[in-house]
Amino acid sequence: MHDLRLIGSLAALWRLAPEQRLRFTFAAVLGTVSAFCALAPAAIVYFIGLNVLEPGAQGLMIRPWVLWAVVAVEVRFALLFASRILARVGAVSASYSLRVRLASALGSVPLGFFNVHQSGELKHTVIEDVDGVQAFFAEDFIEVVSAVVIPIAIVVGFFVVDWRLALASIVSYPLLAWVQRRLVLGAQQQRIEFERARDRVNAATAEFTRGIVLQKSFGQSHESVRVLETAIERYRSAYRAQVDATALPASLMRTLTSSNLFVVIPLGLYLNGMGAVGLATLVFFGLFNLRLSGALLRLAKLTSTVVAAGVNARRIEEILAEPALPDAGTREEIADASIRFQDVTFHYSSDASGRAALRDIALSVPAGGVTAVVGLSGAGKTTLARLAARFWDVDRGAVQIGGSDVREYRLERLMDRIAFVFQEAYLLDDTVVQNIRLGRRDLSDEQVIAAAKAARAHDFIVAMPEGYRTVVGRNGLRLSQGERQRIQVARALLKNAPILILDEATASTDPENEAMIQDALATLARDKTVLVIAHRLSTVVEADKIVVLDAGKVVAEGTHPELLATSEHYRRLWHDYNKSFEWTLSSPERAAR
Ligand SMILES: Nc1ncnc2c1ncn2[C@@H]1O[C@H](COP(=O)(O)OP(=O)(O)O)[C@@H](O)[C@H]1O
Ligand SMILES: [Mg+2]
Repeated sequence: MHDLRLIGSLAALWRLAPEQRLRFTFAAVLGTVSAFCALAPAAIVYFIGLNVLEPGAQGLMIRPWVLWAVVAVEVRFALLFASRILARVGAVSASYSLRVRLASALGSVPLGFFNVHQSGELKHTVIEDVDGVQAFFAEDFIEVVSAVVIPIAIVVGFFVVDWRLALASIVSYPLLAWVQRRLVLGAQQQRIEFERARDRVNAATAEFTRGIVLQKSFGQSHESVRVLETAIERYRSAYRAQVDATALPASLMRTLTSSNLFVVIPLGLYLNGMGAVGLATLVFFGLFNLRLSGALLRLAKLTSTVVAAGVNARRIEEILAEPALPDAGTREEIADASIRFQDVTFHYSSDASGRAALRDIALSVPAGGVTAVVGLSGAGKTTLARLAARFWDVDRGAVQIGGSDVREYRLERLMDRIAFVFQEAYLLDDTVVQNIRLGRRDLSDEQVIAAAKAARAHDFIVAMPEGYRTVVGRNGLRLSQGERQRIQVARALLKNAPILILDEATASTDPENEAMIQDALATLARDKTVLVIAHRLSTVVEADKIVVLDAGKVVAEGTHPELLATSEHYRRLWHDYNKSFEWTLSSPERAAR
């Protein structure tokens, strides 16, 4: 099975470098010839032996043969050097083209792909996984090829010289293969345990760090300390187990690989005594058995490197195989800013249960009005909002904007027409001004500042050390949720799109920020078609239309008073909301958080 994994990994890697195959093949040929040159001195010793040691030998001039051995060694290094250079050049080109292909694949996947795959994970593939593939082709590929070809050549040579000693030479290898397999399988289990233990330590550390505040303020040891200690203890023993699992079998392997000499030498001496084989043959088997075990050991060692590179390759393949969102539409302009869902059914392909996130949704969002979607968490509100902007394509039915299917529009134009404010604001690791402008060079600083003012963001921005030039985001200044949110609103304002989608835009902000953001949103929403997903019903009572979603279906639709009168489901949501509101008022420390 492990050998299969080796072959599978090699195949996956090979598939990733279509343009470089000629180069790599050539490098591998050079590398293999070089490996044969490394065998030449031993072969020459055998040849000399044949002509000197065997009964009736004529003897020969030894000196030229020694010279040939020296030449072979020189040639070997020259070829090795050439093959390495070739492999490296190929590897760098291959990794460059892989990154280009990854970038283009990521540029054409549906936007929803990025809701499922975290940016850290994608970065890992584009950087580390590609590096892994590059290192494989630069360093290991030639070695693997020669580590496979050389043993085969040696074994063929064995059988040409003497079949009995040849059999004796290879008899222990099946046993060896078996041990190797056990070793790898055993270590694999330990490795999984080890990785699990490591993840647990990470989680426990994060939990512990969060708990520090509690410990400091309450002056007592928290449960998380105990959890962390246990996790570290488990980690330690998993680590030990992993080392044990690999160390013992590895040394056993070493011993076993040379053990065939214990069979070959006695048998050889016996055959020699019978006069069946000459001394030169004995020398031949002695020398080449050492070479054989050396090459096989190297192959065994390379296996884990190759399998690791194969894992890198498969992760890259997965992204490259991600289906692109078809962008075949040609429509440029929208007739009006209305949105319609026509019997839309959609399920996430990543959801193994196969359950639809939305079922037979029929819904219209009239142009210029405010339509709100409410429902419990998990009802499908976010999915609905994202489908409106074609983050994914629907399974059945159609989403229309301005009376035409969203798939009929050129994707870029469609995106121009829709502005989003999400619950989470994503900030680039860049200045505030770039974060608002998002790469659009046609926007002047004045326009950016005007948008920031309208988004109620200007005051906190100018209060920062370098104002609009302050670097924010991951490695920059940390902004509060509310501040990040207002930057997001400023972006949406600048975009000035006729359709605005708000997905729980104020859900994770404090009341003071929320008031300001609501204010800014009111500016943003003027004269727009607004689809608003609300976590607080107070923000939607004024909406022209409220749609109640439950478990992926529309269960009621109407204005606030209508729904209060007709929908039991809505009444319950409203009741729960009012209760939590009262509760918020009666627990001030919670409200102030
Ligand atoms: N990326 C995803 N992959 C798989 N399932 C998802 C994904 N996003 C949401 N879901 C599922 O789809 C359903 C609707 O989710 P969502 O639209 O986020 O609900 P809401 O916004 O109303 O809380 C939920 O059951 C959720 O678990
Ligand atoms: Mg949601």
